[in-house]
Amino acid sequence: MNPQDALSILPAQPPLRVDLGDRGYDIHIGEGLLADAGRLMRPLLRQRRLVVVTDANIGPLYLPTLETSLDDAGIAHAAVVLPAGEQTKSFRHLEGLCERLLALRLERGTVLVALGGGVIGDLAGFAAGILLRGIDFVQIPTTLLAQVDSAVGGKTGINSRSGKNLVGLFHQPRVVIADVDTLDTLDIRQLRAGYAEVVKYGLIGDAPFFAWLETNGPALLAGDAQARIEAVRVSCRAKAAIVAADEREAGVRALLNFGHTFAHALEVETGYGDRLLHGEAVAVGMVLAFDLAVRLGHCDGKDAVRVRRHLESVGLPTDLRFLAATPAERLPERLVEHMQADKKVVDGRLTFILPRRIGDAFIDRSVPVHAVRGVLADALSP
Ligand code: GLY
Repeated sequence: MNPQDALSILPAQPPLRVDLGDRGYDIHIGEGLLADAGRLMRPLLRQRRLVVVTDANIGPLYLPTLETSLDDAGIAHAAVVLPAGEQTKSFRHLEGLCERLLALRLERGTVLVALGGGVIGDLAGFAAGILLRGIDFVQIPTTLLAQVDSAVGGKTGINSRSGKNLVGLFHQPRVVIADVDTLDTLDIRQLRAGYAEVVKYGLIGDAPFFAWLETNGPALLAGDAQARIEAVRVSCRAKAAIVAADEREAGVRALLNFGHTFAHALEVETGYGDRLLHGEAVAVGMVLAFDLAVRLGHCDGKDAVRVRRHLESVGLPTDLRFLAATPAERLPERLVEHMQADKKVVDGRLTFILPRRIGDAFIDRSVPVHAVRGVLADALSP
């Protein structure tokens, strides 16, 4: 190794901790972690055997590296490879997964490893929560969205005909291993969508982080590993603190839903498909949340402009142009109806996470429907 190479290798940072007492766990973030996953998991295993759940896109890319690291650590393993895509988060695939795992003679001490994005993490985590009345699982998230959001915090579940994530349970992983190298194979649109959730942490509680993203976001999206590690680390640190304070979303955890009330309505309207990815809907939702806060007098318009400008500059949608092919008639009304049907409505009042400024958000459970309609009508007018 020449001295130049030695300089380019930064010391690995210690893991972050999600402080939930005896259910607490570490989050490892860095490069090359997949090749080290066996060593990182070994102290947590009650038996030297585990089952990896992955999908048909991620399996061929990363399963061999993970399997080699398990072999090196002396851990026996099997794998179940599921179809890729949101439709896998269904009762049908949950049943199939549970039957396949039981046929592998799963025991209470067997650990499930979710290798993939949010779909695999949510589904495998749910299966782990109900199989044999609950077995341990490990999250190895391979998308930016999963690394900064869904793999941390223990929300697991599947979709039902009535909506997304309506069937599930809280089941915390034993460890999260976020290898930023896996982001190299992620489609740029998916990467950007995950980036919206990164920006969310700046907007709800960390103005200096938002300013850092304004400078470093483009490098992160272009593949800069150190920028990725820093962004995943700051995001996970924020999420870990919120989850430790309010694991079951009785209060402060709702801040993580910033932008999501609008986003869910837009996703229902567009059919949860390729037309609008979840993170893209969150980007638009965050902009609309700023517009709503400005309209209600909570926030200065200059902050709303700054947020829109940053999201736009990295190529995320910030307006409702993607709805152009949708009949505009009653559109604001329809979107409000989708919000009213959302599981987060309490006593018929609309709940929003609203900003006071960049880096400071609060939960408002009594937002007047006419203000929401007004923001949507403005956003839809040419
Ligand atoms: N994705 C929001 C949460 O975990 O609470």
